[in-house]
Amino acid sequence: MMDKALSEPEVKSVVICGQNGRFCGGADIKEFGETMTGPPLVPMLHKIESGTKPVVAAIEGIALGGGLELALGCHYRIAHSKARLGLPEVLLGLLPAAGGTQRLPRLIGVPAALDLITTGRHVTAAEALQLGIVDEVTDGNTVDAAVKFALSVAGKSLDACRISTYPCPQLPDSDAFFEMAMQQVRQSARGAIAPVACVQAVHAAVSLPYTQGMKREKELMGTLFTSGQARALQYYFFAQRAVGRWSTPSGSRWDTSKPRPVHKAAVIGLGTMGRGITVALAQAGLSVVAVETHEKLLMEAKQAVSGMLERGAKRRGVVPAYDNISYSCNIRPVADVDLVIEAVFEDMTLKKTIFQQLSEICKPGTFLCTNTSGLDIDQLASQTHNPELVVGMHFFAPAHVMKLLEVVYGPRSSPQAVATAMQLGKKMDKVSVLVGNCRGFVGNRMLKPYLDQAFFLLEEGATPELVDRVLEEFGFAMGVFRMSDLSGLDIGWRVRKADGLVVPEVLTGPSARIRHGFRYSPLGDLLCEQGRFGQKTGRGWYQYDKPGGRVAKSDPWLHSFLEEYRTQYGLAARCIDHQEVLERCLYALINEGFRILQDGIAAGPEDIDVIYVLGYSWPRHRGGPMFYAGLVGLTNVLERLEHYHQVHPDVPSLQPCSLLRKLVASGSPPVHRWREFIKKIHSQL
Ligand code: NAI
Repeated sequence: MMDKALSEPEVKSVVICGQNGRFCGGADIKEFGETMTGPPLVPMLHKIESGTKPVVAAIEGIALGGGLELALGCHYRIAHSKARLGLPEVLLGLLPAAGGTQRLPRLIGVPAALDLITTGRHVTAAEALQLGIVDEVTDGNTVDAAVKFALSVAGKSLDACRISTYPCPQLPDSDAFFEMAMQQVRQSARGAIAPVACVQAVHAAVSLPYTQGMKREKELMGTLFTSGQARALQYYFFAQRAVGRWSTPSGSRWDTSKPRPVHKAAVIGLGTMGRGITVALAQAGLSVVAVETHEKLLMEAKQAVSGMLERGAKRRGVVPAYDNISYSCNIRPVADVDLVIEAVFEDMTLKKTIFQQLSEICKPGTFLCTNTSGLDIDQLASQTHNPELVVGMHFFAPAHVMKLLEVVYGPRSSPQAVATAMQLGKKMDKVSVLVGNCRGFVGNRMLKPYLDQAFFLLEEGATPELVDRVLEEFGFAMGVFRMSDLSGLDIGWRVRKADGLVVPEVLTGPSARIRHGFRYSPLGDLLCEQGRFGQKTGRGWYQYDKPGGRVAKSDPWLHSFLEEYRTQYGLAARCIDHQEVLERCLYALINEGFRILQDGIAAGPEDIDVIYVLGYSWPRHRGGPMFYAGLVGLTNVLERLEHYHQVHPDVPSLQPCSLLRKLVASGSPPVHRWREFIKKIHSQL
């Protein structure tokens, strides 16, 4: 078609437009397949650009990836004011390989192009105009505007319109600029290679002629295509979609049940979590009743919530939603809400009392939700007249920022209650993942063996610095000890105390490191007894310049404490290498993931992976823990777990899960087949 338009003598100029209000969203990633070949756009763009007839891109809706590259191959670009443009390839582990990395810097300069290409962010038509990506923005019919424009430029010289022929704008000190850019990208990429390759490709645009730059772009794309990272990121893209079509492990599609609309909600308890949840609800346009115990706490919370709303509104360029919230020290005003989210202390007795009260005072049909981090939803449901209305809504801190929401169904939760919580999560701009009811649900249940291994490694000779370094090199935003310092060591301590695990009187005896017959490390408890709660007290696994300080520094006190501890318990410190740290921490976590799948707590590996990427900073370019297990090989994971369990028979979390064994025995099917495999196992039970 394009060839015909370019060769037909009667055609003086050409307009390229999309269909159904969308210019072009780029290549369909499903088509990348196993062999991943680049898009066949390059020769076509060359033909368009080098032709003698003006070609105008009429951009409506979106011009993303290959779509924007196509527009850059045209001589002019006209966009509708609501259009969005961008090169999001980096988010899928790739780079724009149809000349995007070579043309964009030539058109808008290196810094702006580098920003768009390395972050994958979309820009509005207004920003695109300001940057110089488009020539004109219209509020009217884009195709009409483009046709008018195309006719006005018919027959005119195109010499100044072929982007590939532009000299790339030079920088005052190109080497220093790229060195700095590379440093910044490496830091924020946490091991992802695509952003680094994007910088290299843009560097080629500056330092090489266009044709050689294109060769470099192709070469770099080849490397990315064959890397596991692109595959992991594409898997993750589809995993998020799969989670959106939520189902239970038995395959029931509960998303067919109709959610009830929620206009008014209540939040009980305005601490760290309640405040964030209140903000997220108000920003989603709901009326919120926010409840605390005392006037002083209520006023403190009100001030904090108002500040959060203001900052959020400023960022989004809207008016803060103060008027959506009413504050109360009394639980009575929740009587007429459609849904309640309880976020008081993690204390079963307190939560039970609150659920009894709510069940008495709320209007019939009010959904009662809890933000518990891992307590039994069913026990709370049993305190109410209508247990079918109770579900868990487990947000992550800070709740108005973090994308993840675990929606927890108990054995008696109704499909409509689940659907309503899932739908509300969506309205609050969260990714809602449906999970079953068990201690810690999915995320925190898997975290437990991971933390245990980190403590055991310290007992055996590692330092917090070593463990954190290995995990951060793997790609976690923070290692386990820096993360514990940030979230507060006292939280886990309180839970362990409630579970009867903290037994100070036997700490010096032989059973100090055994609980319920298994290995237990009291290291975290001992730090808490010293008042070391992490950042909030200025001391934890590291030291900070003041309480609330953010920069972790090695603490010589902690190192001597570890040495004394080992001496006291007759533990010989040994040299522990990176591989052991990584395998013990990650494989223990992954093993628990297999148990979760086996127990039917998560519907599939995708659910676990989305939870870990969005809630626990698992590096996205590694797909998630279950995808990673497939990547390193299930046989390998099984063998290493067997090895470590043999060395540490008193650590049950290292004993390979039978689902993992079954998967290996059936030839280690790829991760997208596990759901089916597990369903078959469940149906045979
Ligand atoms: P927090 O200690 O910061 O806040 C709890 C608030 O509840 C306090 O302000 C307290 O005054 C209030 N409260 C206690 N009894 C009350 C009552 N009868 N009526 C009204 N308010 C009452 O606790 P945080 O961290 O916000 O945790 C709340 C819940 O969220 C817990 O169940 C916790 O396990 C869960 N959670 C916590 C996360 C975190 O990172 N902090 C993450 C996810 C869940």
